[in-house]
Amino acid sequence: MTGTAFRTASHSTRREFSAAVHRLIQAGATADTVLGGTRRQLPPGLAQRLTGLIGAPAEWNGFRVLRGLFADLGEPGPTRAHWSETNGAADVPYDVGLALIGGLLGEVFGWINQQGGRLVHNILPSPGYETQQVGASSTLALAWHTEDGFHPERADFLLLACLRNPDRVATRLASIRDIKLSDADTVQLSRPLLVIEPDDSYAPDPGRKDGTVGIRTVWGSDGALCVRYDPTYTQMLTPDPAFIEAYARLEPAFEEHAVEVGLEPGDLLLVDNDVVVHGRSAFPPRYDGTDRWLKRVLVRSADTGRPARPPQEREEHGFGQQRVRPAPRP
Ligand SMILES: [Fe+2]
Repeated sequence: MTGTAFRTASHSTRREFSAAVHRLIQAGATADTVLGGTRRQLPPGLAQRLTGLIGAPAEWNGFRVLRGLFADLGEPGPTRAHWSETNGAADVPYDVGLALIGGLLGEVFGWINQQGGRLVHNILPSPGYETQQVGASSTLALAWHTEDGFHPERADFLLLACLRNPDRVATRLASIRDIKLSDADTVQLSRPLLVIEPDDSYAPDPGRKDGTVGIRTVWGSDGALCVRYDPTYTQMLTPDPAFIEAYARLEPAFEEHAVEVGLEPGDLLLVDNDVVVHGRSAFPPRYDGTDRWLKRVLVRSADTGRPARPPQEREEHGFGQQRVRPAPRP
């Protein structure tokens, strides 16, 4: 699965990208506004080069790592004590830079009830979350999952920028296309017999709707199988042993085909959320300003050639969780 997954940004691209990001910040842009409106964001030549570096998602084989793309953005300051802390300007270039890269792939969005509705999220260990199945955890490994698997409008692409990772804690990736599901298991897992609920990183929504619209775990054709998977937050709608056993075979299969990426400061990881499930190794938090610190952005693809998600997903309510789009630039 690794193949051409890793690319390195040239020094000139890094410098030019950093200069463009800082110019936009000086002009008043933030991560939440830089993509708003119709004003030009990146110089066309640079945007074209970055698009070439990212490549077509259909050729990623599920994910791509761009080494060093953010390496010239500057020192981000100490890792925040909590994901909700957003005061301080040192990491703003990472937020704006990540939003801009997301904008090259499609529509960047956030969730009203997640991380204050911001478009770029902090992923860092936070006290009290150590053993939860959310991005702020640490001492418990983050289990295989599709990002926001509970929602029919979940991201097509998940982008993670690394600001700091002193212990090289592994981001784990596994492709549904690598595990070679049997025909019988593919048939079973195409049945809409489970529900995925929102994870604990979402504030409760007073207007939350519950229901039992069953979802399919896999869909698509042989060479282009797609997946939607989050066992931690899954409720089965059937006791059918053939289905339950096929579902249970997924986790060891993902383990067997796991790829571990130790992100380094300045690296960008791009994940196809329909093809690859992801997780993270366990690690002891430091809580001293030197902890692992990633930034996350979610993107809906503009590419209509992607394998379509099951049409039945349109009947889902997404538990009332609403997306947030870029705000207009002042
Ligand atoms: Fe995740």
